[in-house]
Amino acid sequence: MTLRVALLGAGQMSRMHTAASRQAGGIDVVGIYDQDFERASARASDLSIPRVYRSWPELLGDATVDCVVILLPHDLHAKFGIEALEAGKHVVSEKPLAHSVADCDRMLATAARVGRKLLPVHNRVYDYAAERMAEIVRSGAIGEVILAQTNGYEGPGTVGVRPWLATKAGGGGVLLAQAVHPAYVLRWILGDVARVGCLFGDLKVVDMTSEDTAIATLKFATGALAEMTATFGIAHGPFDHSIALHGRDGYLTLGMNQTGDRQAHPHVLHAISPKLFGDKALHEVEIKPSESWGTGFRRLWEDYRAALVEDRPTRVTGDDGKKAVEIIVAAYHANATGRVVDLPLTDPSL
Ligand SMILES: NC(=O)c1ccc[n+]([C@@H]2O[C@H](COP(=O)([O-])OP(=O)(O)OC[C@H]3O[C@@H](n4cnc5c(N)ncnc54)[C@H](O)[C@@H]3O)[C@@H](O)[C@H]2O)c1
Repeated sequence: MTLRVALLGAGQMSRMHTAASRQAGGIDVVGIYDQDFERASARASDLSIPRVYRSWPELLGDATVDCVVILLPHDLHAKFGIEALEAGKHVVSEKPLAHSVADCDRMLATAARVGRKLLPVHNRVYDYAAERMAEIVRSGAIGEVILAQTNGYEGPGTVGVRPWLATKAGGGGVLLAQAVHPAYVLRWILGDVARVGCLFGDLKVVDMTSEDTAIATLKFATGALAEMTATFGIAHGPFDHSIALHGRDGYLTLGMNQTGDRQAHPHVLHAISPKLFGDKALHEVEIKPSESWGTGFRRLWEDYRAALVEDRPTRVTGDDGKKAVEIIVAAYHANATGRVVDLPLTDPSL
């Protein structure tokens, strides 16, 4: 059965989701809505999307739409997500699921009440390299993970093409916009987070209301420690996202491919694992080739289509979307108060 989706938002990510859902197969992008009608029309003609809605109620009233894909500034995810669910649509929301835990809870409660699914776009757990990293950890080949470190190095251009990211309401800051990715990947591999600390840098490079550079520290329920460095402020140096895991019996490091064929091999994974390789040297781990940078999105849509059409379980759930936001909200609270914050959060105002 075909899943019929409508896109809400005709910006950067509308291209990615249209291409990825078409590559996944069994998905029709039936329409698009954006407050900027010209922009939506241009995107529709560019991507051969058959219908451009004149209003949000017009999209909601389209009975052919099974699922709304939310591709909007962060503070709008909850409002539009809840309205789409109330109208009987499934909802796939770009990350972060919402910009507060209370909004995530409202979205999840609405989905449960109306019997529709709510799924966040956690595309990185569908990348072949991250998947292989998780498999190696789960196989025990690096032993118990004791320490993790993630880097998210992006320049001001990320914010430059999305002016709303510079506003507190729309973007949140680099933690909510970017560090939510490593937060959900680490949680997927290492389990729930128990405590969060954080500091923002004061030397801003990007003219934005919220933080452009931050370091968050996480302690997992297992006792493992992690540090996430996130910035939109690098003036030089490569755009890079990396994850390193140190285990009792080995080491894994995943980074972006800076020199080779980035379409087939967007990431590189290296390991020290005597269990896997029989020695203590650093080895490159073979990763299944990707068809493009968007392979993780294509695989996400395969999983989500099966969930929405055949009612199958997904690798990522709406609750995972909330838990990722909770880590980031705790980091904001930690920076603001100068204290380490315990999870789960109990303050309903967060
Ligand atoms: N998963 C990823 O790797 C990834 C990468 C980039 C962005 N994102 C996420 O995707 C989402 C969208 O980002 P983007 O880069 O496409 O942003 P964008 O700025 O390119 O597009 C946002 C669109 O929303 C429209 N819009 C704003 N307010 C609206 C309203 N009230 N009603 C209707 N339309 C409205 C704007 O006109 C614009 O076309 C964000 O949540 C962002 O964090 C995810």
